[in-house]
Parts: sequence; structure tokens; C-alpha cells
Amino acid sequence: AVPYETGISGNSLGTGKALTIYAIPEKKAKRFNINLLKRNGDIVLHFNLRFDEKAVVRNALQAGEWGKEEREGKVPFEKGVGFDLTIKNEPYAFQIFVNNDRFCTFAHRSNPHEISGIQVQGDLELLAIQIV
Ligand code: GAL
Repeated sequence: AVPYETGISGNSLGTGKALTIYAIPEKKAKRFNINLLKRNGDIVLHFNLRFDEKAVVRNALQAGEWGKEEREGKVPFEKGVGFDLTIKNEPYAFQIFVNNDRFCTFAHRSNPHEISGIQVQGDLELLAIQIV
């Protein structure tokens, strides 16, 4: 159920690892997001779908402050249509795929080995989460 939050241990989403989320946006969805968290509460990746702005906003929260938003690209999601979203943690960036198509890159703004939690929030039905 959403909101969903899970802790992950040590380096289990360190570089070389990939997180995949299977979900369906609600029929009347406005927004949903996936956050990758550090132990100190920073968000190393905030991936925020906004149907109300026709945008996918990516950002990071450091010491309580949002950084610069990245919004390039079209919205690859549809209300009521299932998708899979894969976030690959690579040495210099997260590579983000939607339905196996590369959607965007988000250059790391902090150490990518310290991810300690995952949050899924907003107007979607979460079907499964997988780390490979
Ligand atoms: C803010 C919003 C946050 C987050 C942030 C990303 O306007 O309140 O939830 O999405 O933008 O830059």
C-alpha cells in the first residue's frame, strides 16, 4: 500500500545495482513520487510525476533544501496504465528507464553508496518492488 517506505541495508542499492518499481497511476492521479533516502533524511533522488503540470520533476533534498529541478523530457506515464520504472545506480549518475526505454539521467549530487531507504508516495497503486 502507498505510502510505502522500506529501509535497505548497507550498500544494497550502491553503484551497479538497479531498483525496479511496478505500479499503476490512479485514474484520477495528480502526482506521485519515488524518493531514495539517506540516513540523515536527505533525498538523493526525488522522482516526481506531476500530471497537473505535465512534467516529471527530478531533484534532490540536501540539509532540508531542494536543489535545482531537472524537468527535460515528455511524460512517459498515463493515468490508469501500468508501468515499470527502473533506476540504475551508475558511478556518476542514476539512469532512469520507463517501460525499458531510457527516460533520463540524474547526475549524482552526493555519495551514491549511502542509500538507506526507498519511499513511494502519491496517487498510484504499487504492485511490486525489486532490487537486482
Ligand atoms: C516542491 C514540492 C516538493 C518537491 C520539490 C521538487 O515544489 O513541494 O514536494 O516535489 O518541489 O523540486
